[in-house]
Amino acid sequence: MKKTELISIMDPQEDREGVEQAAAILKRGGLVAVPTETVYGLAADAFNPQSVKEVYFAKGRPQDNPMIVHISDLAMLPRVAKDFPEAAKKLAEAFWPGPLTMILPKVENLPDETTGGLATVAVRMPQNEVIRAIIEAADTPLAAPSANRSGSPSPTTYQHCVDDLWGLVDAIVESEDCTVGVESTVVSLLGETPLVLRPGAVTPEEIAGVCGEVKVDDAVLHLPPEDAPVLSPGMKYKHYSPAAKLRLVRGSQWDYVNYVNEVAKKAEEEGAPNGIFAMCFDEDIHHLEVPTISYGVAYDYESQARELFDVLRQLDKLGAHFVLVHAPEPEGVGLAVYNRLLRAAAFDLVEL
Ligand code: TXA
Ligand code: MG
Repeated sequence: MKKTELISIMDPQEDREGVEQAAAILKRGGLVAVPTETVYGLAADAFNPQSVKEVYFAKGRPQDNPMIVHISDLAMLPRVAKDFPEAAKKLAEAFWPGPLTMILPKVENLPDETTGGLATVAVRMPQNEVIRAIIEAADTPLAAPSANRSGSPSPTTYQHCVDDLWGLVDAIVESEDCTVGVESTVVSLLGETPLVLRPGAVTPEEIAGVCGEVKVDDAVLHLPPEDAPVLSPGMKYKHYSPAAKLRLVRGSQWDYVNYVNEVAKKAEEEGAPNGIFAMCFDEDIHHLEVPTISYGVAYDYESQARELFDVLRQLDKLGAHFVLVHAPEPEGVGLAVYNRLLRAAAFDLVEL
């Protein structure tokens, strides 16, 4: 067990001491859970292979899964990436700082532990000012995957980090809840056309708006065949899952409500144990005859993204066994929400 400190940083200018304290821990090789606008990250000095290994250990994560490297400003980019193609420049101008990660060729001396042995690096300049101040104070890029234990939903509050990582890391920054709520968009700029490997708050439409074109990797919406090459290793694993079994249900409010009420009725007739839950939109609640938990407003994909992981965590505490989730449409930011839910449901999808 490690001794974990809680460091409160609400405003990086006012809480200067906290920023320096977090930076000092990182500089001497420690692990710190830090806020970003997407999800909390578990940070280590990207150039310290031993610390990076400890991140895998604390998360209980397979070691071939490469990490995102966070920078505080563009001047830091050449420390991690070798090439900065024209499309990347345009995307940086449009979306950095922000929830966009770019895959670029890496510099030689960035450790294999950080990039999972790949010749490329995933790099992002976050919008959140607390993490940017910490990177600046530590004067080193920070490798940071999401600060959850591997397999459990990503953390969107500091309390989620405390629940998952207390005793496993050196410090947790107590800061505000994440405003976006799902992990950054990952886009590869290694080919001719930008390729979205993981959808997030920056949408494929927005990327096409800047670069003229975009492709979305098949693995975003489909389970890749066993033998397919995996471009983004993180997509391989069952992810974001609560202990309850989830089924994603796509359809209008009417179709969804009828489906859920039918399933519940049938289970009752068969004398099956209860524990059926509806994870739905605000508008669905009063039509449903099972216990409900809402994760936002229908078609307001930003609200759904913000609530998603916290609600997935709550399901276990509520004792849900089988959860019927009303799917968002896979469009705009809804694509990111849909993508996470599909994985949480291990691809169990019903389209009505
Ligand atoms: O919003 C985020 O991106 C958060 C916060 C903390 O910044 N971080 C995050 O990291 O989600 P993580 O490690 O949970 O997800 C990183 C994703 C994985 O799917 C990984 O496979 C992919 O990025 N990735 C990292 N390096 C890559 C590379 N060189 N090529 C392709 N995919 C890569
Ligand atoms: Mg993650």
